[in-house]
Amino acid sequence: MKNRELSAIITALGGRQALQDLLGVGPSAISNYLARGALPQRAHAPVCEALRARGWQIDPGSLVLADPEETDITARRRVLLVVGGGIAAYKALEVARRLQDHDVTVTGVMTRGAREFVTPLSLSALTANKTFTDLFSLTDEAEMGHIRLAREADLVLVAPATANLMARAANGLADDLATTILLATDAPVLMAPAMNPAMWAHPATQDNLNRLRGRDVQFVGPAAGDMACGEEGTGRLSEPDAIVSAALHHLDLAAGRPASSPLAGRHAIVTSGPTVEPIDAVRFIANRSSGKQGHAIAAALASRGARVTLVSGPVAIPAPQDVELVPVETARDMLSACEAALPADLAVCAAAVADWRVTGIPEGKIKKTGDGQPPILSLAENPDILRHLATHASRPRLVVGFAAEAADLQETAMAKLARKGCDWIVANMISDADGKPVFGSDDNSATLITGNESEMWPQMSKVALADRLVTRIEAQFA
Ligand code: CTP
Repeated sequence: MKNRELSAIITALGGRQALQDLLGVGPSAISNYLARGALPQRAHAPVCEALRARGWQIDPGSLVLADPEETDITARRRVLLVVGGGIAAYKALEVARRLQDHDVTVTGVMTRGAREFVTPLSLSALTANKTFTDLFSLTDEAEMGHIRLAREADLVLVAPATANLMARAANGLADDLATTILLATDAPVLMAPAMNPAMWAHPATQDNLNRLRGRDVQFVGPAAGDMACGEEGTGRLSEPDAIVSAALHHLDLAAGRPASSPLAGRHAIVTSGPTVEPIDAVRFIANRSSGKQGHAIAAALASRGARVTLVSGPVAIPAPQDVELVPVETARDMLSACEAALPADLAVCAAAVADWRVTGIPEGKIKKTGDGQPPILSLAENPDILRHLATHASRPRLVVGFAAEAADLQETAMAKLARKGCDWIVANMISDADGKPVFGSDDNSATLITGNESEMWPQMSKVALADRLVTRIEAQFA
């Protein structure tokens, strides 16, 4: 028997601990077996029996798993999906389904609260695995002890992680199966919180979040937007795709595999499109930004596995797949959405933010006075979102801005980079060499300014430019 075949058997049995328990030996014995690439003779019968009980076919003579495809199970990844009790619990079913699309084996654990929203039967049907619910169930314990359940996972994913579940985990409680698993597991833990925005913002929850982070628990989300409870703010469960891509990233890390891209699992904030500043109930100040460049950057980041929050003003184009869209109108909304999306690893500000907003907006519509006198609008300067992010206490590691200039591209953009405190600026002229405006066009040409260096990029499509920029960002994170 080769070492690889023995590894496959150990994985099929449920891991090294399972083999230790089965044979009543310690970890060093398993290391010896692996070094020799063989099990002792006395182990053959119990191993064959345990494998058959788990549905594997094994040749008792050679002790090789029968199905050659199945022997490659060392590459299989197992997620223990802990579903907390909240309205977002139904989305855990979608997460379970999509994980399996990536050849991940999913076993479900549901809290009592979760079972008020979805049934264990639904999760079992989707995962083709038993869903565990009860810490003190004799049948569950006989089939699979809770400690083994906790240890067999390559990743424990908690989705949705409610405020209560986070609080119990932060305090090390073990008063149900879910919290016992969180205490007993030696696998990485990824939590996808979901709760009412006020509960998320509460210092108690933020305190628990920091304590869990301090113990290396990873987080994806929560996202900002409309909540099922009718309120708006940060607290929504991240989209299933975002949770799945974060889970895959942490599975790769746990297995010691290099993540496919250094951006995989990283959180990126991208601003895109125009902002719209009301004058009265029906009129507004806006600009011609189409959102094509910002949306293309969001798509390119998502395609490299990043978890993208796209904060966009009103545009006519759809949000790319696999990004979390936060639609906004005004510059101040855009700033709040960006701040709510923090922390992030990187931010790319491609939005054409209105520099000014109208103050003293009247109720209803401004009417003509009849004497031919136009109304006088008084303007106030809008917050600079790029500068806010670049100087924020939770500043992303890389902050990239855009600079649309009419003249002296290089010097003006360099000065803008210094003024805004960002790391890079993508500078472009507001019209191309033929005088055609870049706003709304499918093409763009740019100069990338990274500190004191600059790279001139030729005219290319906005999609190609996004790809090029993201490749440079990837190199920065490599
Ligand atoms: N930006 C921002 N918030 C603002 C204004 C601009 O985040 N209130 C960002 C843009 O998204 C872009 C960069 O800052 O990444 C530069 O935008 P630009 O309009 O070229 O610069 P301004 O700061 O508006 O400077 P000016 O109009 O005076 O050239």
